Amino acid sequence: VSVGAELRYALLLSCLVVPLCAADTNLSSHFVLEPYDFLFDTAVEAYYKGDWLTVILNMEKALRNKATVRSVKAQCRMSCANRTSFGDRLAGLGVPIPGSGSVEDLGFFQKILKRADCVNSCETEKLGSPTMHQVTGEVQLEFSKRTPYNYLQVAYFKINKLDKAVAAAHTFYQANPDHMEMRQNLEYYRMMAGVKEEDFKDLEARTHMAEFLLGKSYYSDDSFGLAAKHFEVAVDEYFTADKECRALCEGAYNYDGYNYMEYSADLFQAMTDHYLQILNCKQHCVVELASTAGRDKPFEDFLPSHFNYLQFSYYNSEKYEQAIECARTFLLFHPDDEVMNQNLAYYSAVLGEDKAKTISARQVVKLYMQQSILEKELLYFGYEAFGVTFVDPDTWTPEDVMPKKLRDKQKADRETAARITEEIGNLMKEIETLVEEKKKDSSDIAMIISPQEGVSVLHDNIKVTMTPQQLNGSQRVLLDGVISDDECRELQRLSNAAALKGDGYRGRPSPHSPSEMFQGVTVLKAVKLGQEGKVPLKSTRLFFDLSEKVRKVVESYFHLETPLYFSYSHLVCRSAIDEKQEERKDLSHPVHVDNCLLVSEINECIKEPPAYTHRDYSAILYLNDDFEGGDFIFTELDAKTVTAEVRPQCGRVVGFGAGKENPHGVRAVTKGQRCAVALWFTLDPTHEEKVRTISVD
Ligand SMILES: *[C@@H]1O[C@H](CO)[C@@H](O)[C@H](O)[C@H]1NC(C)=O
Ligand SMILES: *[C@@H]1O[C@H](CO)[C@@H](O)[C@H](O)[C@H]1NC(C)=O
Ligand SMILES: *[C@@H]1O[C@H](CO)[C@@H](O)[C@H](O)[C@H]1NC(C)=O
Repeated sequence: VSVGAELRYALLLSCLVVPLCAADTNLSSHFVLEPYDFLFDTAVEAYYKGDWLTVILNMEKALRNKATVRSVKAQCRMSCANRTSFGDRLAGLGVPIPGSGSVEDLGFFQKILKRADCVNSCETEKLGSPTMHQVTGEVQLEFSKRTPYNYLQVAYFKINKLDKAVAAAHTFYQANPDHMEMRQNLEYYRMMAGVKEEDFKDLEARTHMAEFLLGKSYYSDDSFGLAAKHFEVAVDEYFTADKECRALCEGAYNYDGYNYMEYSADLFQAMTDHYLQILNCKQHCVVELASTAGRDKPFEDFLPSHFNYLQFSYYNSEKYEQAIECARTFLLFHPDDEVMNQNLAYYSAVLGEDKAKTISARQVVKLYMQQSILEKELLYFGYEAFGVTFVDPDTWTPEDVMPKKLRDKQKADRETAARITEEIGNLMKEIETLVEEKKKDSSDIAMIISPQEGVSVLHDNIKVTMTPQQLNGSQRVLLDGVISDDECRELQRLSNAAALKGDGYRGRPSPHSPSEMFQGVTVLKAVKLGQEGKVPLKSTRLFFDLSEKVRKVVESYFHLETPLYFSYSHLVCRSAIDEKQEERKDLSHPVHVDNCLLVSEINECIKEPPAYTHRDYSAILYLNDDFEGGDFIFTELDAKTVTAEVRPQCGRVVGFGAGKENPHGVRAVTKGQRCAVALWFTLDPTHEEKVRTISVD
């Protein structure tokens, strides 16, 4: 039955204005809550009789009662869990430790019994008989599809409550984006006089998600103060919602397809079966909370991402203490995150290291992680001992939480997958080689006989444009002709395509300058996007191959005896934001040294973590010159005295040692987009960039 068709028909008629009766009832503690499936049925029946007020009365009550049942269950379970003492203990027992003797076992079970009694009386008092509110799977499905709002919007419309009709329609449509009739209805509503934009609200929106989405929209508008405010509320609300979600998991055992008549587990097995099911549900709250109507997939890495947004919002609001706190909190989840470690180092340098040291990650997050990890450990135990499947929904879980046996198995599975990818890659390469041979265009890079002085021609038209002496320093070189114009254009296109299709953003504020937008793609990300068909695989391969070419050139120019390995490679474009260029004094990328922390006030560079001390050489491959500003500079250790300046252009590479002899930075980009591939190398194979070791992924 199409409720939507009914509305369209009704739109052609003039509407009767009927005053909406005050349908509110008060929930006193002795009032028995009517079951919401019964109310739903009553409302649907009334709908077919055209009794709109009865529809509204019962459907609204059904929604309200359903919410009440949910919240009472959560509250009862949480407050019972919160009670450390359940009245008199069995005589002679201190803290019960199950298993240390049959008497202690009794103490343990006493707690379980009292807890069951607590939850049971709490629920009965507030809801009446607990079985009364059990509903069939069908009814559950109707509510999860938000069907009540479909009936409500028609009924509201019929009694001319337009604002409520619009909200109900919008709420329904959020969960049913393919519902064409509701979409048409919404279009009609949008054209109707008296309908306001704020009427289109989602009545089922959850606070933590609404706040997160608000935060995100302020964030993308560069309103960082407001963004931080909403992300903070979102974090608080997240933990509230998480507690509730976990409490709601503590429901009945789900026999899940197998015949409960044949279920004959003993006491501990039965408790185990039920408990593991509940733990699985609790772990799944991560996914539940990251999901929202109208998005097919949950937000990835949802909770950690709050702290990523927060740190950058605080940084932009010049609140370095909070930025450090949030960066550290994010690092609890992803301790090796390169960008975040860089940010933290930067914020700490700005605030002062001593002060920064005293700021720690948020306690609430530490506790949350501790609990989650313990749950995972139990679930993995259940996996190994009883074969109860557990798929970890988090991306941040430390490796050693998973038992070694399982880890090995998963690794083997992954390797199989990687091998298949590699084989496909090799096949592609063979095809490309065949094509290239036909074009008779071999472009192997021979070893370069490096000159000490002057300009010399290298293989493949690569030439040394400036020696270390000409660049007024040591361990620096400027090369030209490393890649062709076509290749430059293709990489720049790749960066723009990846930014567009990758994370759904079109550039975000630069971590270094509020006057520029920033987009970056790593080789790994490019390969992933290539595999997903979002960017041409050909461009991805080019990115990979050209950075390899630069590596070889640097390795041979500096006469290195052991191989150089990639430590990190990043295709980065910075775009000037036109309206933010006046009075600009900042740099596009502040002066720094790649493998130590530059303390310019005392002309020192400290080679200690969090600096990337394993970096030995760096190179930047430029892709274009059609922008203003953005020159590369080398300075003294004071970060002020410029010793050499390099104008980017397509195919140009500036290569240099990553140590204190080479502080460098980038001047402000004041117009247009500046794109380059930044490459960091290490002589230590243990720090090789992961993507390079596992074939092209
Ligand atoms: C509902 O009950 C509360 C107290 O429990 C009272 O303050 C309120 O006025 C009542 N509302 C109605 C509509 O009866
Ligand atoms: C748990 O107990 C503490 C202290 O008595 C109280 O502050 C807190 O609100 C309680 N939480 C719940 C969910 O009842
Ligand atoms: C090196 O220093 C000299 C003298 O200060 C300067 O004229 C020249 O431009 C510098 N070289 C580069 C590449 O900036």
